[in-house]
This record gives sequence, C-alpha cells and structure tokens, in this order.
Amino acid sequence: MDVKRDQFFREATLRICSSLNIETALGNAFTYLREHFPLDDLYLDILDPSLGAIRRIAHVVAEDSEAQEEIVPLPEGLWSWIRKKRAPYIVRNEDPKNYISAVAPLIKLRGNSDLVLPLLIEEELIGLLVLRARGEGRYNSGHVALLATVSEPFAIALANALSYQAVVKYRDTLIDDNRFLKRELLSQAGDEIVGGNSGLRNVMNMVRQVAPLNNTVLLLGETGTGKELIANAIHFTSPRKEGPFIKVNCGAIPEHLIDSELFGHEKGAFTGAVSEKRGRFERADGGTIFLDEIGELPPQAQVRLLRVLQSREIERVGGIRPITLDIRVIAATHRNLEVMISENRFREDLWFRLNVFPIFLPPLRQRKEDIPTLCRHFIAQKCRELGIATPPDIAPGALDRLLHYNWPGNIREMENLVEREIIRHREGQLLFDALSTAGVGDTPAPQIKEEGLQLPLRLDEAMSAHILGVLKMTRGKIYGAGGAAELLDINPNTLRGRMGKLGIKASRKK
Ligand SMILES: Nc1ncnc2c1ncn2[C@@H]1O[C@H](COP(=O)(O)OP(=O)(O)O)[C@@H](O)[C@H]1O
Ligand SMILES: [Mg+2]
Repeated sequence: MDVKRDQFFREATLRICSSLNIETALGNAFTYLREHFPLDDLYLDILDPSLGAIRRIAHVVAEDSEAQEEIVPLPEGLWSWIRKKRAPYIVRNEDPKNYISAVAPLIKLRGNSDLVLPLLIEEELIGLLVLRARGEGRYNSGHVALLATVSEPFAIALANALSYQAVVKYRDTLIDDNRFLKRELLSQAGDEIVGGNSGLRNVMNMVRQVAPLNNTVLLLGETGTGKELIANAIHFTSPRKEGPFIKVNCGAIPEHLIDSELFGHEKGAFTGAVSEKRGRFERADGGTIFLDEIGELPPQAQVRLLRVLQSREIERVGGIRPITLDIRVIAATHRNLEVMISENRFREDLWFRLNVFPIFLPPLRQRKEDIPTLCRHFIAQKCRELGIATPPDIAPGALDRLLHYNWPGNIREMENLVEREIIRHREGQLLFDALSTAGVGDTPAPQIKEEGLQLPLRLDEAMSAHILGVLKMTRGKIYGAGGAAELLDINPNTLRGRMGKLGIKASRKK
C-alpha cells in the first residue's frame, strides 16, 4: 500500500468506527470519503435473505436528493449476481443481462453513478456500501482500487452496528417485559390493604413516613399478619418503585448455597459454578431487597449481610473486586430477635443495623374491627379467582364466630378459611362452622376414605381427589408440558397454591 492509500485506510477506518450509532459513523465517513470520491449520497445496505431484498439501514444523502426506499426487493437473478460479487464494482445500467436495469427505476440509477463495495465477514456477504454521484460515468478504476482498501473496516463496522442494534432491541424488550410483569404481579397481589384506616392505621402512617426515604425497615409480626404486603407497599410507594423488588426467603435457601444466591459468584468459583451469576443483591440494584424470615439466616450469612449493610458493597464468591450497590433493605421476621440475641442465635450488631425503623404488625386478634371487612374482601377476591359470579352470603351469626376466634394464623388463615368455605358452600351461605367445632380452626387435610365414597363428596374433597388423580397420571409433575397444571388448564402456581390449601403434598416421582 502506498502512503496515500495507507493514510486513506487509516482515516476512513477511524471515521466508520467513530460511533456505535451507525448513522453518525456513516455521516463522519461521508465527509471524509467526499475528499477522495465524487460523492452525493452514501448508503449502507444489508442483504436480507428472508425478504430477498436489500434493506437500507443507514444513509447520508446530499441535501437536494430524495430519500430512498428503505427496502428494495430484488429479482432472483440480480440477487444471486450481487451475492457473487466480492470486490468493489461500478454499477452500469446496461450490464449484466439487464438485471440492474430491472431495478434501475427503483434505485434511481439513471442519471447517477453508483460505486458499490461488497461487505464480507468470513467470506459471507452481509451488506453493501453504495457511493453515488450525480451524472453518469463519474467513477473510474482508481476509485475502485482505493475503495477496495477499506472493505474490511466497513464490514466490521456494519457487523458491529447490527449486533449492537440487536442487543439494544433485546434490552428494550427485556425492560418492557420486566415492567409488564411487575405490573402484573402488583395487580395479582391485589394491592389492597384492608384496615389501613382502622386496625392498621398506625402501620400505614409509618409506611407513609418511611417509604420516601432510603433507610432500612424491619417488619415484625406473627406469620400471616401482612409483612410481605407491607414490604410491597413500601417499595411501590417509594421513589424506587420503577426499580426491582427482589424477595429472598432466608429460611428457604440451603445453607451452602446462601452466599452464591445472595451475592452471586464468578465462573469457576466452586464446582458447579459453570458460569457467572448475579446474586439477588445485585439484581436488586436500584430497587429494594426484601429479606423475609431474616431470623432464619445462618450465623455465617449474618456476618456477611452485616458487612454488606455497612459498606453497601458486595463481593461475588470467587470475585476480586467489590461491587457497589444502590439498594434499600427491608427485612421481616415473625421471631423475637431480642430473645434470639440473648440465646446467641442472632447477632446483636446485625440487629442494630436492621432495627433502625421497626414496624410492628399487630395480630388479627388485636384488631378484630377489621375482621368483617377482611372477610368480605376475601369473599369477593376468591369468587373472582374461582370464577363465581354471585358471591354467597355470610350466614346470620357466622360473623360472630369469626369475631370470637383467636386467629393464630392471622390474615393468611382467614384467607384460606374463606376460600375453603366458598368451595364448600358456593350455592348456599357461608357458615364458618368449622371454626366452632375444630376450635383451633385448622380443618385437617381432606382424606378420601373408603366409606366416604358412598356419601356425596364435599366440593373440596372432590377437587382434592381430582387433583390427586391427575397428579398420579403425571407422576407428580406440575409444571410444563404434560404437567398437571396443563392438563387442568390452570396456572401452575395457582395449582400449587390450591394444593397447599387442600393439604396435598407435591412429590415428583422418577
Ligand atoms: N391488611 C390486609 N388486607 C388485605 N390482605 C391482607 C392484609 N394483610 C395480609 N393480607 C393477605 O394475607 C396473606 C398473608 O400476608 P403476608 O404479607 O404474606 O403475611 P406475612 O408475610 O406476615 O406472613 C397475603 O395473601 C396477603 O395478601
Ligand atoms: Mg411472609
């Protein structure tokens, strides 16, 4: 390469690689190419085999010319002729076998000169760079030779632009999906908090105070009192509501996996770490992490969590650099952490960090005024879920039973009770008579007994029997193709929920 070509190569390469936005890069290249070629318009096309067409992905057009078609379909003959070209060529109206003249009007060939540079990656033609000048016969073999020097950088720039566009497209779809799913989750959660003006008035006042801030919140209260619901409410009324809300059930992760689950790991950090993985903390960046059942966190993990809360940095397992995070922490537990501290089962320094703004959710038996509203709320909700158009009435005296019960399982227990009651008495009235007889209120899991089969089954027994039958057919498989959920045509998570309520254990047979 002589000096002039060498410099041309360098300068042209710099221009076409000057921006990830291919339109900008092509604009920069245009200005430079103009110093060496007759040039009014510059196009970057890709060959789209699925369309049998040329698709224009970027162009720089001299002011006085018309905008071009974005997609130019090609006749079969021309298509294969173009695909055989490996070196730059001048397009002549009359050659070859009139292929070009077939599309000449489309690509506005007459009265213009076109110089085409095929762009190849690993021998494969991916696109074309087209230089155009007004007037015929403007390009010569000198131009062809000069342009040939930059075929590689232009091809690479085109390939990069295409993958960049694809990545951006995927990213946008993912962001969009994520928003959609979050809204879905939110509307599924029902978002309604019953009792915000009565039994939960204090709680809701505290939620309003704390939501706009960034501090750690500790939610205390018995199981089923609504800790998770409140954690959701804090996140979705906070300035972080567009960010992720990541839930971790600290009691549900096997101890040896807690570190990698929470903090992620690098590829090869331990046997089985085949690829790198972001932990839940990293996923919550820009949003809120909800550490549920924090009292179940093993001692080792408590130490590491303390460090994260102090530094707002995490380290992946096997990682070398700490990663700084912007996270709000909400923790919850039904345990008495002070007692756990005195028994050396929970670290006092961690408790100090968590206990900045404790919110206590009173048990249902201490806010009986909410019971009637909650009951109606769940009747309406369950009927919606079960597809029952006219909700059954509450039998006279039944509310009294609810008011005199002491609700060890709190609101979750009431939710489950209402659902069972609706399934039993959907045509009649809701009696809640199981409460007075069973005392503690927990109806045992339905069992189909031999003699029970002669009597008409209660609806929940029938449902239970049906689900068990289907599970037998699928050998315990719930999710996916051929799973019980698919056979029953309901959402797998709904099925799991229903199984839980009916006391059916999930067990997968090999
Ligand atoms: N105040 C409330 N209003 C309506 N539903 C509630 C309320 N409190 C709890 N629930 C419902 O009761 C169930 C249990 O609540 P959850 O937040 O999971 O309790 P916890 O985390 O304290 O065990 C959930 O289905 C939740 O939507
Ligand atoms: Mg919970």
